[in-house]
Amino acid sequence: MLPDKAPDEDVFCGSADLKRDAHVASFEKYKELYMKSIETPDEFWGDIAKDFFWKTKHSGQFLDYNFDVTKGEIFVKCMEGATTNICYNLLDRNVHDRKLGDRVAFFWEGNDPGDDLTVTYRELLQRVCQFANVLKSQGVKKGDRVSIYMPMVLELVVAMLACVRIGAVHSIVFAGFSAESLCERILDSECSLLVTADGFYRGDKLINLKLLADEALQKCRDKGLLINRCIVLKHLSKEPEEILGSQSPPTKRSCPDLQQDKQAGRVKKTRPVPQVPWNPDVDLCWHALLRGASDECEPEWCESEDPLFILYTSGSTGKPKGVLHTVSGYMLYTATTFKLVFDHQPDDVYWCTADIGWITGHSYITYGPLANGATSVLFEGLPTFPNESRMWEIVDKYRVTKLYTAPTAIRLLMKFGSEPVKKYKRESLKILGTVGEPINPEAWQWYYNVVGDKRCPIVDTFWQTETGGHVLTPLPAATPLKPGSATFPFFGVVPAILNESGEELEGPSEGYLVFKQPWPGVMRTVYGNHPRFETIYFKKFPGYYVTGDGCRRDKDGYYWITGRIDDMLNVSGHLLSTAEVESALVEHKAVAEAAVVGRPHPVKGESLYCFVSLTNGVTFTCTLEAELKKQVREKIGAIATPDYIQNAPGLPKTRSGKIMRRVLRKIACDEHDLGDISTLADSSVVQQLFQNRCSTAV
Ligand code: PRX
Repeated sequence: MLPDKAPDEDVFCGSADLKRDAHVASFEKYKELYMKSIETPDEFWGDIAKDFFWKTKHSGQFLDYNFDVTKGEIFVKCMEGATTNICYNLLDRNVHDRKLGDRVAFFWEGNDPGDDLTVTYRELLQRVCQFANVLKSQGVKKGDRVSIYMPMVLELVVAMLACVRIGAVHSIVFAGFSAESLCERILDSECSLLVTADGFYRGDKLINLKLLADEALQKCRDKGLLINRCIVLKHLSKEPEEILGSQSPPTKRSCPDLQQDKQAGRVKKTRPVPQVPWNPDVDLCWHALLRGASDECEPEWCESEDPLFILYTSGSTGKPKGVLHTVSGYMLYTATTFKLVFDHQPDDVYWCTADIGWITGHSYITYGPLANGATSVLFEGLPTFPNESRMWEIVDKYRVTKLYTAPTAIRLLMKFGSEPVKKYKRESLKILGTVGEPINPEAWQWYYNVVGDKRCPIVDTFWQTETGGHVLTPLPAATPLKPGSATFPFFGVVPAILNESGEELEGPSEGYLVFKQPWPGVMRTVYGNHPRFETIYFKKFPGYYVTGDGCRRDKDGYYWITGRIDDMLNVSGHLLSTAEVESALVEHKAVAEAAVVGRPHPVKGESLYCFVSLTNGVTFTCTLEAELKKQVREKIGAIATPDYIQNAPGLPKTRSGKIMRRVLRKIACDEHDLGDISTLADSSVVQQLFQNRCSTAV
């Protein structure tokens, strides 16, 4: 299934320099290792596992599984019998066994230039142990779920690894999500404690995170779940004693525990700090708790298949799915993909611009890099703040060698031309990566030519929250690249393309992308709902894991993702379900019915175009439109804010009442060639909808 020879058309290959030290230095070597990973997985992964610490070794085969719903329950078990602790492997092993204690784990770069901190592996281990002891003192035990709702600060990594150290299960909620979304996730995973922060800045905008957290906890209480502990990091504000009862804006900034002596604070003195409401019965100050905590904490030794974390991703029914990953397989898979896809070398400075609140941040800021003893940049800010050169300034400041970002960020920066990029040297860069959505050839070329100065291969990594790590990806010194293709499967991954009848297509073809067998990092279940897991991923085509993406294979065997083929939208690299946005809209009393479709957007990839039918007697006004946008933002979060809302007195439906979204997508784009609409119950609504199109959308 892999090509015998490299393709003959215009492809891009890694430089001789890169190949010299690369872990996988040729396409031949990739093919040889790939065959080994498929034919003798025990040997392949067994060799990799030797680099890690196991309290007890595994017995039996490396992977045991059933991927066929017709044969019984779906399950995947990796390294059964082994016990380990990921935090130990990420930190203690690097500090004590590999003598990397003084190596920088993270360069933290704040929202404002000049706000920065450095943390070594040794310091990180100390902080994690202290916070693990804090969690224990708050009664958190192995298996308990802890919700984390924090900005991109070092303490987010500390909090997640502290959970891992004591065997608790973290459920991180992206700090851009609303109070309602946070509440929904806390309830679903029945968390016993919340870790949050006072607030943070996104560019010039202050986000009062604690207010949102408080609102979420109140909603949880209203729904019967009492969470009586909330640990609050003072990222922006003053000492807790001063917060308590204080009405006037504090003037002194907090002293971060990390590198207390080096930094007086993190946020520009001129910025106002948030007023933090403080409930002494519930709220606990991070810094005060840490002050008395010991920096020694014996790790909890976990079974391979013990839960590691839950991360929610949009589901096509509108209810987010709690994707559950487990210990050993996820550790090995993220460590190996990180090492090989970014060809990690000891002197690298790696920077992934994702937020830890998404899977990219989990796997490729925390787990994969730390497992390799890597030095990373952790960036709190925005690519265009305070100006559109910020990313390149950071690349030069830390001499970043490997940069991993999203097509939407590349398209955003492209708009400003090459001048902001060329102001900085970027000569340290060696490998560039992208993730989140298909990258359009224009953005690919700009990334390659302008950012990478035609020196750096681009690894276009296709994967999902569910896959845990990269599943289709080039290896930078081995795979000849074609712009826009995620190229070939990673080790252990067996893709196939199916037609509508579930038949495997051979050679050049297009259809559903599926995987035929598990790899160590694949999700194990939807938290609390195994039947939903089986239905979503395994029922449509028994025997296969169904990604929900369309895919084309070309004559050279390269895979090209064509986009989602379910009711999901990809806005700025983040999946949203149309049902989720529709249900937020219909909760407004003025809306009787809503239908949401994607409309291509030059920077975001897709934007949300919403059609709303109003309840009798209500008129569509600008105020209502603004209210509806606000409603969606408050229910889900800013990423789901609709771009367009159109009044739709009637929606195009079939005689059985099903909304024809295909027609709505055409209307949103003002495309009049609608194809076959003979099944429409009332075709006159179409004309009316074209007339009513949002003027800003034209
Ligand atoms: O549609 C695919 C798209 O993002 C989806 C997964 O989204 P999520 O679980 O939020 O994880 C995003 C980060 C891993 C996929 O089903 N996607 C992701 N990477 C690519 C991609 N589409 C094309 N090319 C990619 N490299």
